Amino acid sequence: MSTKLPSDFVWGYATASYQIEGSVDVDGRLPSIWDTFSHREGATKDGGNGDVTTDSYRRWKEDVALLKQYGVKAYRFSVSWSRVIPLGGRDDPVNDAGIKHYRDLVEELVRNDITPFVTLYHWDLPQGLQDRYGGWLNKEEIVKDYVNYARLLFESYGDLVKNWITHNEPWCVSVLGHATGVFAPGHTGNTENWIVGHNLILAHAYAVKLYREQYKPSQGGQIGITLDLQWQLPWDDSPENIEAAQRGIDFKLGRFADPIYKGFYPDSVKELIGDRLPEFTEEELAVVKGSSDFFGLNTYTTQLVQDGGDNEIQGNVKYTFTRPDGTQLGTQAHVPWLQTYPEGFRSLLNYLWKTYQLPIYVTENGFAAKYENTRPVEEVVHDTDRIEYYEGYANALLRAVTEDGVPVKSYFAWSLLDNFEWADGYDTRFGVTYVDYSSQKRTPKDSAKFLTKWFNEHISS
Ligand code: BGC
Repeated sequence: MSTKLPSDFVWGYATASYQIEGSVDVDGRLPSIWDTFSHREGATKDGGNGDVTTDSYRRWKEDVALLKQYGVKAYRFSVSWSRVIPLGGRDDPVNDAGIKHYRDLVEELVRNDITPFVTLYHWDLPQGLQDRYGGWLNKEEIVKDYVNYARLLFESYGDLVKNWITHNEPWCVSVLGHATGVFAPGHTGNTENWIVGHNLILAHAYAVKLYREQYKPSQGGQIGITLDLQWQLPWDDSPENIEAAQRGIDFKLGRFADPIYKGFYPDSVKELIGDRLPEFTEEELAVVKGSSDFFGLNTYTTQLVQDGGDNEIQGNVKYTFTRPDGTQLGTQAHVPWLQTYPEGFRSLLNYLWKTYQLPIYVTENGFAAKYENTRPVEEVVHDTDRIEYYEGYANALLRAVTEDGVPVKSYFAWSLLDNFEWADGYDTRFGVTYVDYSSQKRTPKDSAKFLTKWFNEHISS
């Protein structure tokens, strides 16, 4: 077997509309739920919001030039729904200026031999739909409006875009948006989250059906969903903790992946959630099952799992980074939820291949080095902890492909630029490019150079 990745392996960077665009009230765009939420007192750590961020709605050409400079093969970005249909609904007007913006971006990418991967939904629901009928809570309405939005994108860009991702991390939309309330729209409780998750699956599935029936035959692309999971490693080898790790997987990933790839919710979820978990009709299930051409994966770390606790939303398991012998799993990031543990990435890739038997597209992976927002830029650009992370994860991926035979097709690092990190505001920086938010100057960090070199050396020519 080759010791390199195949020549058609795709690598690049990922971003998301609300995190980078700014220009929130320009050229006809109307607010999304993230505009509303981030302006709420106390919603983000530093009071930050997406009003300006990296100004990429205006500086998109500069961003593409940076991608070109980094030598990537692909760029994953998302479309802001309320830029192209400002009020969001199927009977609402389309905004030509918004359509043109992404058309220009896609054309510029293609001109530069950078393959666009387009995410339809990266969390910025039009506020108009939240106000009109409760957004993701309203199955009848949201599925139709989402499919209508998807149709507009397939029609507008499908001649050039051949890789579509319906949703980014539906778990975050469901749980962080509708259970813990730390993300927009900021709802809490343990009922809505199951309805929202269910409706996200349906919207995804009906958009895929549309694409496969009406666009794929002539456009010839592929479409799938991106789910997120941190590898779940039992804290020790006790049977309870081994079982807890599987339950952790079911509650984070299986609740989406099993219906989509296998046609049913995991038993552990059904047992614990009971009739709060909606059921699919037979007709819906026929559309849901098999509704992704690939396995889209976002992953950042590994969690050590213990049985217990009464957090139903995560399947009554507890998480830690401290091993039984008191040591830490890996290097600590700026955010509490992330430590470097490449072995877990390799295990996860193997698990997904074994369980779902589809090619895997890693659509996000990355690291936030400590205190990059407060240290001087001259220091921050030497981001050794981020390089250690990328080196470990890239090599884990390489081994999964070349030694374990897992068909991983892409690797998108998060992120091209430092940007608006949701509830963490601007305190956390995930970019391989440092952004000075007052001047908008972009400075490559050492990790950007590292990834360019690593992929140049490890993809077959
Ligand atoms: C999201 C990104 C986010 C990143 C780092 C992922 O869950 O898709 O939008 O910035 O994690 O937290």
